[in-house]
Amino acid sequence: MKLWGGRFRKEENKLMEEFNKSFDYDKILYKKDIEGSLAHVYMQVKCNLLTEQEGKAITDGLIGICEDIEDGNLLLEGNYEDIHSFVEINLIERIGEVGKKLHTARSRNDQVATDMRLFAKESALEILTLVTNFKNTLKCVADKNSIMMPGYTHLQRAQVVTFKHHLMAYYSMFDRDEKRLSNALEILDESPLGCGALAGTTHNIDREITKEKLGFSRVVENYIDGVSDRDYLLELMSNFSIIMMHLSRLSEELILWSSQEFKFVELDDLYSTGSSIMPQKKNPDGAELIRGKTGRVYGSLFGLFTTMKGLPLAYNKDMQEDKEGFFDSVNTVKMCISIMDKMISTLKINKENMKKAVKHGFLNATEVADYLVDNNVAFRDAHSIVGNIVIYCEDNNKNIEDLSLEELLNFSPVFKEDIYDFIDYENILKKGSKKNLL
Ligand code: ARG
Repeated sequence: MKLWGGRFRKEENKLMEEFNKSFDYDKILYKKDIEGSLAHVYMQVKCNLLTEQEGKAITDGLIGICEDIEDGNLLLEGNYEDIHSFVEINLIERIGEVGKKLHTARSRNDQVATDMRLFAKESALEILTLVTNFKNTLKCVADKNSIMMPGYTHLQRAQVVTFKHHLMAYYSMFDRDEKRLSNALEILDESPLGCGALAGTTHNIDREITKEKLGFSRVVENYIDGVSDRDYLLELMSNFSIIMMHLSRLSEELILWSSQEFKFVELDDLYSTGSSIMPQKKNPDGAELIRGKTGRVYGSLFGLFTTMKGLPLAYNKDMQEDKEGFFDSVNTVKMCISIMDKMISTLKINKENMKKAVKHGFLNATEVADYLVDNNVAFRDAHSIVGNIVIYCEDNNKNIEDLSLEELLNFSPVFKEDIYDFIDYENILKKGSKKNLL
């Protein structure tokens, strides 16, 4: 069943028909499509393109279709080209000839652009809420765990930090994600309905009316742009990709931290899985899957970038390829944030092992240099002195704080008894700008 065919002498080839279809995946737009049509028919009546009676028949028909889909009385199945054809053909079957007037002053090009914007807006708002909730979870867990842990650079133990500060680094990342999503939402909040195929219409329509009905802030400025713009999908998928990159980095840390080598955390049984052969295994599959799924979100972004890059204005059928990747990205990001939220809120934190790890690896070496600087040694000289102390410690299998004052004095005459307090890890965290780590 098709919405077109009048100018064709031959039936479409079956393979071509299959190839052309998007119904299998764009059916999830049904609500948005009906919402868009309801706004359109409302405007048609206001602008005297339809009588009140015709408008009512179409409106009731559209509402009926929506209810029947929702109640399971009308299945989103059958040989339809796309969701727009499904709704319109069903409308005509349901209310008869008057249903054929719905498409006056509209094209599927502005129709699909409207559906996708509405869907994108709703999805981005849902993801925004998930990000906000996840930020709260991070803050909650961080606030309860102001405990010492090694901070790393190059994945080598570097300086003492707190688990709180480490988690709050992710809070900052998701805070930016929240801002990026809000910004993208603000930019995309324009109604393309009324652009027509690409050049408006000879009918006296009122785009402000449909804009208001659909809850958009503005109408798009340019008709040609309105039907050919997919920037908002690219922008959202860029934001989703950055969110996934952040989730993936956190996943990587959870995977490392839950290994026998680190033993800093334990993932709750609810979010781990076992091995079919090795009975002792508890695997961090949740975190690994998030890390893995990051690839498909990046892939969808680059898929659409590539689809769009050579397209002349205005609408081209290539643009139908915007859907599957976007829908998949939305589902993937939602699922991944939700799982990560649960993994973090149920995480068991092994405080003792984190503290123990701080004691090995000379994480107070920089503070020994700071001590020398406080005693009038130039930083570059202090750096070299401490380097020599570290070699000595390695050779003798000791930590810096285990050296006697006598041993320390071999490296510099300025060391005094107060060095031990100065380089004590708990004390380090109370000094200078490090207070923010607590
Ligand atoms: N299924 C199409 C899409 O997703 C709808 C728009 C069709 N427009 C057209 N001129 N054939 O892009």
